[in-house]
Amino acid sequence: MNRIFKILILLILITSCKNDNQGVISENAMVVSARSEASQIGIDILKKGGNAFDAMVATELALAVCYPSAGNIGGGGFMIYRKNDGEVGALDYREKAPKKSSRDMYLDDKGEIIEGLSMIGGLSIGVPGTIAGVFEVHDKFGSLPIEELIKPAIDLANKGVNVTEKQSEKINENLEYFKLANKEPILFSNGFKTNDTIKYKNLASTLTRIMLNGKDEFYKGETAKKLVKYIQKNDGIISLNDLEDYKPVWREPIIFNYDDLKIISMSPPSSGGICISQIFKMIEPYDLKSYGHNSVDYIKLLVEAERRSFADRSHFLGDPDFTDIPLNDLLDKEYLKTRMEDFSFDKPTDSNELSHGNINIIESDETTHYSIVDKFGNAIAATTTLNGSYGSKLYCEELGFFLNNEMDDFSSKPGFPNMYGLIGGEANKIEPEKRMLSSMTPTIVEKNNKLFMTLGTPGGSTIITSVIQTILNVHEFKMGMNEAVNSPRFHHQWMPDSIRIESERFDNKTKNALIKSGYKLNDKGSIGRVDGILINSQNKLEGGADKRGDDTAIGY
Ligand code: GLY
Repeated sequence: MNRIFKILILLILITSCKNDNQGVISENAMVVSARSEASQIGIDILKKGGNAFDAMVATELALAVCYPSAGNIGGGGFMIYRKNDGEVGALDYREKAPKKSSRDMYLDDKGEIIEGLSMIGGLSIGVPGTIAGVFEVHDKFGSLPIEELIKPAIDLANKGVNVTEKQSEKINENLEYFKLANKEPILFSNGFKTNDTIKYKNLASTLTRIMLNGKDEFYKGETAKKLVKYIQKNDGIISLNDLEDYKPVWREPIIFNYDDLKIISMSPPSSGGICISQIFKMIEPYDLKSYGHNSVDYIKLLVEAERRSFADRSHFLGDPDFTDIPLNDLLDKEYLKTRMEDFSFDKPTDSNELSHGNINIIESDETTHYSIVDKFGNAIAATTTLNGSYGSKLYCEELGFFLNNEMDDFSSKPGFPNMYGLIGGEANKIEPEKRMLSSMTPTIVEKNNKLFMTLGTPGGSTIITSVIQTILNVHEFKMGMNEAVNSPRFHHQWMPDSIRIESERFDNKTKNALIKSGYKLNDKGSIGRVDGILINSQNKLEGGADKRGDDTAIGY
């Protein structure tokens, strides 16, 4: 080996190295997402000189191709950003209820919920926001031409995407639902095997028209007309006027401090920022470190704070454009102290006896998150969803994409749980043009006024608790990003009154102690798939790509 070659190898090892506990380390920039293809497309844009916002557009659209169970152009999402000058903000490109929707649209004559109506098929679809979202980001912050950001997704769709083992399992699990929802056979009807290649020719054509004609193609043009015709043929109520009137909204993020961290997270219509702020404030007075990571007392404390926050969430939260949310009261330190007054390490609080404080909700565990940091120091955290895995299961063959079932994130009947056991309240009742409450929690963390972390996850209601545990893993227990995202997790959401836990990853002693104290444990094989980037003590980027999925960090 000549000397130059040796130096080159050494340089590669230094700039992008990995060991078991440590994630990918990079000097300049990084993308972490649910699929290597999407992370690669994002990083290519960054290497070309694009910024994090350019990479966001490219990564989001790439995920729509290579991760069709949650990546989408038929759904919506939220993005938190932090620019290198410290400016922070939030974009809401969440779906909206169609204008023809109504409060009781999923109830029968007796006022009972018609099972499945808000979850599968045309009536479950909310007006999609993703295309409007990426164009909004590009208009405000993009630096490369939009064609350069959309083209890689088109090329990927034409070339085809390799089916991973996890993906083939997921597709095959859904075959009966695809059949149930779709009148005609779809691309996925016969399932796929691991290592098959799926080509998305029709999606490539749709994306090409969007690239050439801009976002109006999706909301007013040929694509819009075809989409509305397709949805209405499948008993949906979305009209051309719904699409024409869709607009994403820039919102003030929720910002709060925990110890010396400044945490910036998503505001309503996501419950994420409010809930994590409440939970962090409720646990802040306790010495978490002294309890030990995932110890019995640590779990009890977090669970009890989560229980109280989710009870509030159920009652108070909804779309801020329709519902008065008592934000200041919910985040008030004294109020949160009062909420924890009856907490005891000796005995669980009974959720039946705990209501919202004195001053409900719904979603699925299929969503996807990606985090990006560019070489200029800009960071984004974006979480996007179709709601359920493959959304409404309706796949518009002609246009090449799945449509969301985000309407199920509303409370179909206030006070009653949805398929995930979350209770919905009046604040989240269905109203025309309203956004449904979400748990998506894209989050950016600052330390000493500098960028420290960007993270988020899929997982429905468990998003909130997974984000908290990952931040605590880094901050309290000094883990790196990769170890933090891969650590075992648990979750409580007030109702149902049990701790969901990655049971196999906790020892029997801990589980038995919790049971003995009166907690019910509910084994949940896997909770969330957190993707994040940490700025480590050497000022390098460490990617955390959750091993629970096919998630991949790529940096340079
Ligand atoms: N549909 C998942 C969420 O918005 O939280």
